[in-house]
Formats: sequence, structure tokens, C-alpha cells
Amino acid sequence: MNPAVLRIKNLRTQFHTDEGIVHAVDGIDLTVRQGTVLGLVGESGSGKSVTALSVMRLIPQPPGRIVSGEIWFNGTDLMTLKETEMQAIRGKRIAMIFQEPMTSLNPVFTVGNQISEMLRLHLKLSRKDARDRTIELLELVGIPSADQRAKEYPHQLSGGMRQRVMIAMAISCDPDLIFADEPTTALDVTIQAQILVLLEELRERLGMSLVLISHDLGVIAEVAHEVAIMYAGRIVEEASTEELFAQPLHPYTQGLLASLPRFDKTGGRGERLRAIPGTVPKWTEQLPGCKFTPRCGIAIPHCGLEEPPLKEVRPGHRVRCWVAFGEKS
Ligand SMILES: Nc1ncnc2c1ncn2[C@@H]1O[C@H](COP(=O)(O)OP(=O)(O)O)[C@@H](O)[C@H]1O
Ligand SMILES: [Mg+2]
Repeated sequence: MNPAVLRIKNLRTQFHTDEGIVHAVDGIDLTVRQGTVLGLVGESGSGKSVTALSVMRLIPQPPGRIVSGEIWFNGTDLMTLKETEMQAIRGKRIAMIFQEPMTSLNPVFTVGNQISEMLRLHLKLSRKDARDRTIELLELVGIPSADQRAKEYPHQLSGGMRQRVMIAMAISCDPDLIFADEPTTALDVTIQAQILVLLEELRERLGMSLVLISHDLGVIAEVAHEVAIMYAGRIVEEASTEELFAQPLHPYTQGLLASLPRFDKTGGRGERLRAIPGTVPKWTEQLPGCKFTPRCGIAIPHCGLEEPPLKEVRPGHRVRCWVAFGEKS
């Protein structure tokens, strides 16, 4: 097994709001191995983005706070670093790609300018070297007429092209790890597939590790080696992609799988048939037992009383579900 590039231990991140405390990430453990892709999956509000932002130490405080946890990255616990030390890691050793590139790109500078500035800042390249490297990077992410495109402003590019620019920025410093948070959610289906293929090709070629965050198990299936399913701030199931799709054990995972579009007989993409009724609860401290119980179709009385641990039930396959453990009442 490859060594771990990132190891998160018992991470807890909360938000203090007027209505109460949101336990956005509630004691998760995650491991990302060198040169692999971890898929982090869950519905909106399950705590995926807060997990990524916690690792990057970008949680707005207040209202947010990392209450506990260790974040081991290549032998250093990021939680112990000063902000100035963190700046040497953020964007350089660990990069992040967001869902909506328009919010991370500055509208008043050309895309070439923004990549060049980043290279000058992080890698201390000269103006000329930064400009040359920018064109190389834009070519690497498949942007045609890169030298022309570099002179354009973000709004002049299509959504797919903007996401390619974000990928160019993310790989510009040759990071060890990239967090891609719903990188294709805002794009058309065909463009989505192209961007995923590009990300995976570059990751392989540059030997990076990737945490791919998505609400869509279908997206994850294409690229991830390992999958962690998140629900209400917790990991509820974890396995290799193959194992998870062959033997989904948690009713939540089964629900996510059942709501994937099927290929119908004509070869087209079918509709999303069954969504899981209800939404991710926000005020989890008020619920005893398993947080999924109110939405669960197979819950037994025990589920509402005591929260199940995350337990290995098959080799390399962990799940947090009393029914999956074989309990009957
Ligand atoms: N700045 C914030 N202030 C208050 N609550 C927040 C903030 N950011 C996230 N949350 C809450 O934390 C929970 C997890 O959010 P998030 O990680 O963004 O979910 P996901 O990315 O899985 O959709 C949600 O209940 C969300 O409302
Ligand atoms: Mg999110």
C-alpha cells in the first residue's frame, strides 16, 4: 500500500450561529495515499467542503472553529503551524479547485496574468519565465491557442475553459495533493467528463494525490480508488471504489446508488429515479443514535438510541450501521 500523504484524525469543525452550534464536521478520520484518488461523497450540507477548508485552514473564524483534530501532511501536523507557515503549504504543496471558477478568478486581470503572478509569488520566477511557464501550463490543460487565451479575461472564457485555467493554477507549483471540490458540478455533462479525464490524466502524469469531492457517486466512480461516504459531518462508509459499488452496506450509500441515472434501453441517460426523501439534518446534537435514522428505510429500534461506530465488516470496508452489523432489534 502506498504511504499516506494526508492523514486526518478526529477532525471536528463547528459553526456558532444565532440558532445554535452546527457540527459541520464531527470527528472524522480520513487517509489519502500517495498517487491515489479519494472520493468524498455526500449530499449538500454533509460537511465535504468544510472538511477541505479545514485541511487548508481556511475556515472563517468566527463563526467557524476547528475544535479538535490532527491533520498530518507529509509528516507535519498542519494544525500546529502558524499562519505564515501555512501560507507556504497552501496553493503550493496542497492546491484546491472549487466548483465555481468565477469566484476564485479575479475578473479584472487576464488569466495569464493571474497564473504568472502566482508563479512569481510561490516559485519566485522572473517575469519572462513566469510568462513562458504560464503558456506551457495552459497548453498542458488543453487550452487551444494558449498564448492568445492568456491575454483574455475570465468572463471571455467558457465555464469549461475557466475550470481548465483553475486546474492550470492548481498544478502550477507541482503540489503533492489537490482538493477538487465539486469541480464539474457547474458544467454541462460532456464538459464534465472532459474535465474529469483531464484531472485524472494530469494527476497520474504528475504523480499527485487527489481528493475529489462530489455529491454525485457517478462522478466518483470514474476516477476514485477509494470512496468515503459522508453524512451529517461523519463518515458512514468507506471502501475501495470497486468494493463499495459491488457491496454497498449503508442504507444511505444504497440510496445514493439507487438515485444514479441508469442507462436506458435506447442507450440514453435515464432520469434520476429515486432520490432519498428528506435532507441532511443541521442540528445533529439533538438526535440520539444514528443521524440517518429519520430517513432510513431499514432502521431498527437500536438505531434511534445509540450511534453505531465505524467498524470494519469486510476487509478494507468500514461502515457505521447497526443493521449492517447484523443487529435485528
Ligand atoms: N460559514 C458558515 N456558517 C455557518 N454554517 C456553515 C458555514 N459553512 C458551512 N456551514 C454549515 O456546515 C454544514 C456543512 O457544510 P458544507 O461542508 O458546506 O457541506 P457540503 O460541502 O457537503 O455541501 C452545513 O450545515 C452548512 O450549513
Ligand atoms: Mg460543498
